[in-house]
Amino acid sequence: MKEKTDCLSDKLLIFGGKKLSGHLQVDVSKNAYLPILAATVLCDGEVFLDDYIPLTDFVCMREILAKLGVKSYETNGGLYLDARGGKNEKIGFEWTQKIRASIFLLGALLGKYKTACISYPGGCNIGSRPIDLHIKGLKSLGVKVLERHGMLYCDGSEMKCGKVCLDFPSVGATESLMMCASVLKGTTVLKNIAKEPEIVDLQNFLNAMGAKISGAGTDQIVIKGVPKLHGGQFSVMPDRIVAGTYLLAAATCGGDITLDRFVPEHNESLLSILKQSACKITLKNDMIRLKADKRLKCVENIQTFPFPFFPTDLQTPIMVLESVSKGHCKLQENIFENRFGAVPELVKMGAKIVVEGRCAYVEGVEKLYGADIFATDLRCGAGLVIAGLKAEGFTTLHNVHYIDRGYDKIEQKFQTLGADIRRI
Ligand code: EPZ
Repeated sequence: MKEKTDCLSDKLLIFGGKKLSGHLQVDVSKNAYLPILAATVLCDGEVFLDDYIPLTDFVCMREILAKLGVKSYETNGGLYLDARGGKNEKIGFEWTQKIRASIFLLGALLGKYKTACISYPGGCNIGSRPIDLHIKGLKSLGVKVLERHGMLYCDGSEMKCGKVCLDFPSVGATESLMMCASVLKGTTVLKNIAKEPEIVDLQNFLNAMGAKISGAGTDQIVIKGVPKLHGGQFSVMPDRIVAGTYLLAAATCGGDITLDRFVPEHNESLLSILKQSACKITLKNDMIRLKADKRLKCVENIQTFPFPFFPTDLQTPIMVLESVSKGHCKLQENIFENRFGAVPELVKMGAKIVVEGRCAYVEGVEKLYGADIFATDLRCGAGLVIAGLKAEGFTTLHNVHYIDRGYDKIEQKFQTLGADIRRI
């Protein structure tokens, strides 16, 4: 069902076909920032995060924090937070269905108050998004969980440190357990956990606030619980998915761009694919330059897996690149069950893509043509922006509010790279 939210600022008008060139600085990472915002609940002191951008997900998370008595305001380009007046409140569906990341508060509230009451976050357009791994992990630490009418009543009064082995390396479940165990007496060991860079950033934040955590980014995290966390200053990592989106846009449209605040180790799998596609990549410290001056070659087989393999969040952007490259690509989505929302929109633009189960079979075409298209989720929207930038003629992209969740002023960023794109 296409949402018809035709308020003035929810559409982008793109006149495609132009090469991209210029320089951008990569913004702070949405998926590192959100768990860190939740973790501030645990901090008995003032916290200052160096960078802040008004992503709608951050605005929403701050509203929930305010409900929990955590004050926050923007200052000097960053964000000041103070959880000393914190209180334990029920987090209802009106919040959890707005932002899935609200589930990160479960671990933080249990850590701080030993009880929590939160609604199921519900599914979204990319899948059912269960939280059974979060619950199973917390139960392994002795948390009692009662599920009633969509609400989770969690009692952690008898929580004990221990060993937790996840059935799947869930990013959110790993982060929930890290927050909860950071202030749990004794040593907790987490295994079969997510190794994403955002997990490492959360470990670094918690340690900067007095926690004793090691092993993030490896197969085992060891957490020595401390009585409480203090405040402090922290600089959140740059957004590897936003950086990857810009690189894939330049590879798709052709051109010559440079990015600052780029971390190669966060994007090895993407860099390997871009090199296979015959892009020219130059790396120097935290700068990357990408040149693409001819139609690229398809990569025959791409699969999404947990880090360090190819990230699911770049699956749609790379599908757009493959759809206009030479040859064929089989793109398999192994993380979420419904993340091909962009396919019907790309086919409207002239792409040749067939979806069978978890696989999208792409046959590269020379041209895409502008059309009236609809974003169905955040990364689908980002991919469709790239398609509009590549397509001949005008494209109107609807439901831009999805994109604003994870990209700050996306139209201005691409205008900086010479694109003909504006919000209407
Ligand atoms: C995080 O979501 C990210 N969101 C997602 O980014 C990202 O796609 C995902 O990790 C994978 O890298 C944030 O960090 C805010 P998971 P999360 O738990 O934690 C299943 C974006 O576009 N699962 O690693 O929800 C789940 O259904 C967003 O920025 C369970 O079955 O991801 C999925 O199939 C989208 N039970 C898989 O595991 C659970 O309890 C991976 O989910 C939890 C997850």
